[in-house]
Amino acid sequence: MRRTMAIAGAVIAFGGVVGTSSVAPAATTTYQAESGAVSQGVVESNHAGFTGSGFVNTDNAVGSSVRWSVSVAAAGGTQLVFRFANGTTTARPMTIAVDGTTVGTPSFAATGAWTTWTTSTVTATLSAGAHTVKATATTADGGPNLDALTVTDSGGGSGAPTAQELLAKVTGCGQISTGLYKSDSELGRTIPVCGKNGAVFWKGDMDIDCDGQRTAQCNEDTDCCFLPDTAFHQSDGRPLNAAALPFVVVPSPSSTWDYRNFGISGGGVVAIVYNNRVEYAVVGDTGPTDIIGEASYAAARDLGINPDPSNGGTDSGVTYILFKNSTISPIEDHAKAITTGQQLARQFVDNN
Ligand code: GCU
Ligand code: CA
Repeated sequence: MRRTMAIAGAVIAFGGVVGTSSVAPAATTTYQAESGAVSQGVVESNHAGFTGSGFVNTDNAVGSSVRWSVSVAAAGGTQLVFRFANGTTTARPMTIAVDGTTVGTPSFAATGAWTTWTTSTVTATLSAGAHTVKATATTADGGPNLDALTVTDSGGGSGAPTAQELLAKVTGCGQISTGLYKSDSELGRTIPVCGKNGAVFWKGDMDIDCDGQRTAQCNEDTDCCFLPDTAFHQSDGRPLNAAALPFVVVPSPSSTWDYRNFGISGGGVVAIVYNNRVEYAVVGDTGPTDIIGEASYAAARDLGINPDPSNGGTDSGVTYILFKNSTISPIEDHAKAITTGQQLARQFVDNN
C-alpha cells in the first residue's frame, strides 16, 4: 500500500538496469538565410543581432520566399527552427514546405524591433538524406526578416527515444481528467491527467508500492502498509512481485478519472522518465482515487530512486507516459515491456 506521507531528506541512489537503448545523439546543422535561394527578397545587414553575414529581408509581398537545401542524418521527427525578427506590430506568417509539402505555417509574431531576434519551431518527419525547406510569405506584408534555419534530426532513427525526446513531447497539458489529483494525501489537488496522441501522461512524485508477493524487500516488517495483493496478477494467478517487476500504480476509477475509458488496462506499457533516464514498466496495481504518482519498488530502484517502502520515493520530477491500447502478456515479462515500450515510445515521439 502506498506511503502517503512526503518523506523529506536525501534520496539514496541505487544502481539498476534501466530500459534504455543507446541512440545516436541528435545532429544539428544551421543554414544561414543569406545562403538560401531567395525569391523576392534581398540580403541585408543593417539590423544588428543576426548570425552569419546578414539576413534576408523578404519583399513585402505574398509569395516572397527563401528555400534551403538541407541534409538529415537520421530519419524521424525533425525540428526546423527559424530565427527571425519582426519589427512591426503585425504577425508575418509563412508556410513552411518540406520537399514541396506544407508542414506548418508559423505566424512569426512581432518581436518588438528589427534588432530583436527570436526563433519559431516547426516539427516534421523526414527521411534521412537531402531535402528542401521553403518558407513562403502568405500575406502582402511579406515574411519577417529571416536570419537562419537550424535543423535538428531525431538522432534516433527507429531506436528508442531519449528521456529528453520524450519530455519534449509532454510540455503542455491537454487535460483529460475531470478533476485533479494530489501527490500525497496531505497536499492539495494540483495534478491533471493529460492526453496525447496514443498516450496519457502525468507529472508528479513517486511513492513506493511494495504490495503483492511477500519478499525480503516487501513484507509486513519493511512496509507499514503491506498488502499481499495487487490489482493485476501474474500469468500463474499470483500477485505481482513489486521487488522484481517495475510497475506503475494508477488511481482507482472515480469521477476524477477512469483509466479504463482511455485505453489503459493492467499490463499496459508505461515509460517512466526521471533524472534523464527512461524506465519501461507496466500498469500493475491501482491506488487511492484521489492520489497519483506511485510505482513499484523495482521501478524506483531501476531509476536510482530510494525504493525503501518506509522512507523511499521522491517528491517530484517524475513523468509517467502510459501508452494506450498496449498490453504486455504475460504481465511479468519485463524484457517484453522494454522492447515493446521502446517501440511505442518511438511512435509516440514521431506522432506528437
Ligand atoms: C523595414 C526594415 C526591414 C524590413 C521591412 C519590412 O524597412 O528596415 O528590415 O524588412 O521594414 O517591413 O519588411
Ligand atoms: Ca521585408
